[in-house]
Amino acid sequence: MDVKKLVAPHKQYVIDMRREFHQHPEPSWKETETSKRIKRELDSMGIPYRAAGDPGLVATIKGSHPGKTIALRADMDALEVTEANEVDYKSQNPGISHACGHDAHMAMLLGAARVLNGIKEEIRGTVKLIFQPAEELVSGAESIIRDGGLDGVDTIFGIHIIGFLPIGLICAQAGARLSSADHFEIRIKGQGGHGGLPHQGVDAIVAASAVVMNLQSIVSRESDPTEPVVVSIGMFHAGTRNNVIADSARLEGTVRLFNKELGQQMPGIIERIAKSTAQAYRAEAELIYTVGVPPTVNDPGCAQRAAASIQKIAGEGALFEVPPVTGAEDFAFYTEKVPGVFVFLGAGNEAKGGLYPQHHEKFNIDEDALETGTALHVQYTLDFLNE
Ligand code: NI
Repeated sequence: MDVKKLVAPHKQYVIDMRREFHQHPEPSWKETETSKRIKRELDSMGIPYRAAGDPGLVATIKGSHPGKTIALRADMDALEVTEANEVDYKSQNPGISHACGHDAHMAMLLGAARVLNGIKEEIRGTVKLIFQPAEELVSGAESIIRDGGLDGVDTIFGIHIIGFLPIGLICAQAGARLSSADHFEIRIKGQGGHGGLPHQGVDAIVAASAVVMNLQSIVSRESDPTEPVVVSIGMFHAGTRNNVIADSARLEGTVRLFNKELGQQMPGIIERIAKSTAQAYRAEAELIYTVGVPPTVNDPGCAQRAAASIQKIAGEGALFEVPPVTGAEDFAFYTEKVPGVFVFLGAGNEAKGGLYPQHHEKFNIDEDALETGTALHVQYTLDFLNE
């Protein structure tokens, strides 16, 4: 089957859909109008769907022949970013824009739905289309799974459009591609007093400062140097006045890594350093560690299949390798349940809006990438189901 030929007539449809989503962005968990718009499109195609992870939904295209089940995923949420692009499809919702390209993800999946639905007589197995909310809060995927959206699914495929990756380049490497992201809070308890008489109190600011510094030794002295780890403190709150010894301090930070075993050790390591450091300064520390999203791991078999699909659609030179990224994606929750692959699709083009990173106020894409992404959804689906 010549997938490129099947997709070509829908090129303008996908661009139009992307621009429509782009004009009407909605933040995480508030994608209600977006969801309604998707339902209208699915209704017009005659594709059944059901609610999952409200306002998310899962649509089903049942092939005429029995076989395996594949899920294709698109996320729906936009960001609290004021768009700085002057385009005629500019965001109409003040302060909100599709600065991560999820508008493109939905449009490509609708394009793929049209094509796959048109050839369902020839499809062996079932295609599930997941339209997921709240990726930016890394909570939408879990809600889809909780509502049974992944039940009976054998594998999952997802695409992220990438603004700083030039158009024509596509990545589908095996292994951990995006990091985990955990949140932690450390509460330091000291004892207040007069700033001129520090010896009579227990200075929570000095103790917390030492904790911040000592936590940096996890990366430099405790974890394997060949294993990427990030421990960042982004918040440090303490004190009420310049001449008062602070009785407490609160730190908040993030942990990012690619190795799940190391991830399991991190709460213990942070707690040991925080407590013993605070104790050295006569203070006390308490750790509240919240496990967030695991690393997104591409299954080797799926990655290999995706590489072959990419070459069929975009040619030999399209396959490109990038180092793992210390940003998190809740696609990780799907790949914890079933083998899957998450593909990076280059859409940057300096001649057409630039090479801005995701979440940038000027983030935009070369829309020619949409046809490639749509075709890739279709090609990978057929390659998996016909195996
Ligand atoms: Ni994104």
